[in-house]
Amino acid sequence: MIRRRIGVLGGGQLGQMLGQAGVSLAAEFIFLDPAETPSARHVGRHLRAGFADAAGAATLAAACDVVTYEFEHLDLPTVQAIATTTEVHPSPRALKIVQDRIRQKEFLAAAGIAIAPFAAITSAADLTAAVATLGTPCLLKTARDGYDGKGQRLIRDPLHAAAAWAELQQQRCVLETFVTFSRELSLVSTRGRDGAVVFHPLAVNHHRDGILRLSRAPAPDVTAALQTQAETMARRLLNELAYVGTFTIEFFHVGDALIVNELAPRVHNSGHWTIEGAVTSQFENHVRALMGLPLGDPAATGHAAMVNIVGTFPDRHRLLALPGVHLHDYGKTERPGRKLGHVTIVDPTASGLEQRLAAVLALIE
Ligand SMILES: Nc1ncnc2c1ncn2[C@@H]1O[C@H](COP(=O)(O)OP(=O)(O)OP(=O)(O)O)[C@@H](O)[C@H]1O
Ligand SMILES: [Mg+2]
Repeated sequence: MIRRRIGVLGGGQLGQMLGQAGVSLAAEFIFLDPAETPSARHVGRHLRAGFADAAGAATLAAACDVVTYEFEHLDLPTVQAIATTTEVHPSPRALKIVQDRIRQKEFLAAAGIAIAPFAAITSAADLTAAVATLGTPCLLKTARDGYDGKGQRLIRDPLHAAAAWAELQQQRCVLETFVTFSRELSLVSTRGRDGAVVFHPLAVNHHRDGILRLSRAPAPDVTAALQTQAETMARRLLNELAYVGTFTIEFFHVGDALIVNELAPRVHNSGHWTIEGAVTSQFENHVRALMGLPLGDPAATGHAAMVNIVGTFPDRHRLLALPGVHLHDYGKTERPGRKLGHVTIVDPTASGLEQRLAAVLALIE
């Protein structure tokens, strides 16, 4: 059975790119989103409703063969309600674990995955004790709703712990040791309904002010052993979750080892390069998995870089006049710190990529 009618909770840029990938497979999309003009509205129907609106969720479920989501900060009971009538992938169980940093860390620890030492924080007393145990510097992160580095406080001195806790509104949090890494890498993989798994090559990611700015893929200087290390962790987690769809792991590279920073139960910003830089993109493979079709080849076709456009949009004429530039415009209004679009460039050689990238960065930075 081919499931063509795909519902998506969220109609932002990830929904937009999922829809674009699905069009060529004759998938039909409905995006549930409270916004008046969500980015994905041009690639499917827009169902305007809140994410915790039971009637909206029921309408979506009734109209679709399968429902997915483009972000994890969803109301879990609403997603569970959809799953009583319509398949939801990734599963509500995967969502429940990943959307909460405490559950996510406990899940990773139980699976024997390398993570930074952490503690669950639900009171000021927890925090005092955990800062003493883990030492400083350490990072306090809200258990829920964090993205782009929001909801995090670096604690350099135990004396600052109380202020950090107050600034985060005394919410449930995790405290983790600050990891001194050489770089940040991510692995985007997809698991099909039949249990087949495909992995894109590791990407290397650069953040500024907590926001991803630049990814290069395949990441330079990745040994076969390192790629295998990442894939082994991903396969274990995907199988344990009986996962269907695209899945992302963010890593810290420390020495020869990978330490997991966090998981995303979805397509990911650090995988946007796959649209033009891989045989099959993360979006197409997610759609294929949802539809019950075989997964496509995740291999890179060259050297790719992806640059995010954040806050203000550069001149589109100058940008697109550069050779080989692929522009993805999310059609959003400018706002400081908001992801408005991205550019991907692919080149047959590493040095060629760097030349093209320098020209792009000169316009975007
Ligand atoms: N334990 C840590 N040690 C050192 N740096 C860290 C640590 N945790 C997070 N960071 C830095 O902060 C960035 C954002 O952290 P994290 O990925 O946890 O947050 P996020 O808000 O969920 O981000 P996003 O959703 O945008 O990926 C990381 O990519 C990394 O650069
Ligand atoms: Mg992150």
